[in-house]
Amino acid sequence: MACPVSNTVELNPTLLPLEWLLGTWECDEPGEGSFPTIKPFRYTETLHFSHVGQPVINFMFNAFHAESKKPLHRECGFVRMQPGTNRVAFIIAQNSGLVEIEEGELTGQQLSLQSLQLARTSFAKEPYVKQICRVFQLRSDGKLEQTVSMATDNQPLMQHLRITYRRS
Ligand code: HEM
Repeated sequence: MACPVSNTVELNPTLLPLEWLLGTWECDEPGEGSFPTIKPFRYTETLHFSHVGQPVINFMFNAFHAESKKPLHRECGFVRMQPGTNRVAFIIAQNSGLVEIEEGELTGQQLSLQSLQLARTSFAKEPYVKQICRVFQLRSDGKLEQTVSMATDNQPLMQHLRITYRRS
């Protein structure tokens, strides 16, 4: 759902370098999920990035199983930019009970992020995630690509997700 406020309020100038991210993105074909310890899977996902004039982007990511269409992973949070620099922070809550702060750099229309802090509920399922690396890239064909790699208690850093979206 579009945020009514963001249609009327001007984008905070701090966020101009990230203007290309704003809006709703739907995957153009199912994304691919994998990890050495799980069965490979396919998923669909919608991303919403909006703002209300603050120097903050609000986001929601909703993923579904590609075949059964059942809701799976969900994330929501905020994006902040350090004024005058290309430093970007994602503040994220996940439906699995994980919360994280990722930071990184904006280079052109590519955002490369690394988890700085991870926390989880006391009764979270194992294995625990130890590290997350995420890249968003607006490609020259206008599609947005996201890749996510993670390390867990028992696996080194490896790709978990890859998906591309078109603006809807
Ligand atoms: C499994 C983390 C995003 C779908 C897992 C596992 C972890 C994990 C730790 C268990 C791996 C193991 O058993 O060794 C994360 C993190 C994410 C993320 C940190 C985001 C940063 C997603 C997304 C989907 C997804 C967007 C899309 C549907 C799955 C599925 C499994 C799985 C289907 C296997 C079954 C299960 O354990 O539920 N993920 N995940 N994950 N993830 Fe993700």
